[in-house]
Amino acid sequence: MARLKVGVLISGRGSNMAALIDAARAPDYPAEIACVVSNRAAAEGLATARAAGIPTEIVALSAHADRAAADRAMTAVLARHGVQLVALAGFMRILSSDFPAHWAGRIVNIHPSLLPAFKGLDVQRQAIEAGARVSGCTVHFVTAELDAGPIVAQAAVPVLAGDTPATLAARILRQEHRLYPLAIRWIAERRVRIEGGRTLVDGVPPGATLLFSPDA
Ligand code: GRF
Repeated sequence: MARLKVGVLISGRGSNMAALIDAARAPDYPAEIACVVSNRAAAEGLATARAAGIPTEIVALSAHADRAAADRAMTAVLARHGVQLVALAGFMRILSSDFPAHWAGRIVNIHPSLLPAFKGLDVQRQAIEAGARVSGCTVHFVTAELDAGPIVAQAAVPVLAGDTPATLAARILRQEHRLYPLAIRWIAERRVRIEGGRTLVDGVPPGATLLFSPDA
C-alpha cells in the first residue's frame, strides 16, 4: 500500500515533528512526511526538517487578510504536496473553524495532557496545581472545539512530588515522541475508525491504546 502523505504543522521547536521524521525513515513505516508548514519563519524545527530533506513552507498570518485566508493558503500548500493527513505538532496559531472542517477525519494533534483534563495552555502547571497524580499526552482528531476531538491514543506518566512544569513537561515529551508515531502508524494503516465521537483501532483493544510509563 502507498505510504500516507503527512503534512506536519509547527510553530517552534519541532521535536514531535523530528520524531515523526525519524519514524518515517523506517522502510516499513506506513507514512511519509510530505512537507512541514510553519506560521513562523523563525520556527527552530524548520532547520531540522530542511536538514532531513523535507520540503518546508511558511504561511504567516500577517501575509493574509485574516485567519480564514491564511488557513485557505495553508490548505492550498498542503494540497500541492499531496497531503492526506495533517499532523499538528506544537502549532500555536488558532485555526478558523473552516480548516478542521475541510480536513475532518484527516487532521490530528498531540496535546501534553490526558484529555479531557487540562485543555489550553500551560497544561503541565494545571496538572501540578490540580494535584493530579498522573498526567500524560493525547493524540486526538482535531475538531472546531479546542482540544476536544476523538481520542486516538494516550500515554500516561506519573506526576512526582517536587515536579515543576518543566520537569513534568520533559517526562511527558519523551512519551509524546513514542505516541505520535504510533498513532499515525495506526491511522496510516487505515485501522482507526471514528464512531460516535470515539475512535476504534482495529486489532487493538481499547485499553491497549494507552501506553503507561510508570518510571518514565
Ligand atoms: C508539545 O508538548 C505538544 O504536545 C504541544 O506543543 C509542544 C510542541 O513541542 N502541542 P515540539 O515543538 O514538538 O517540540
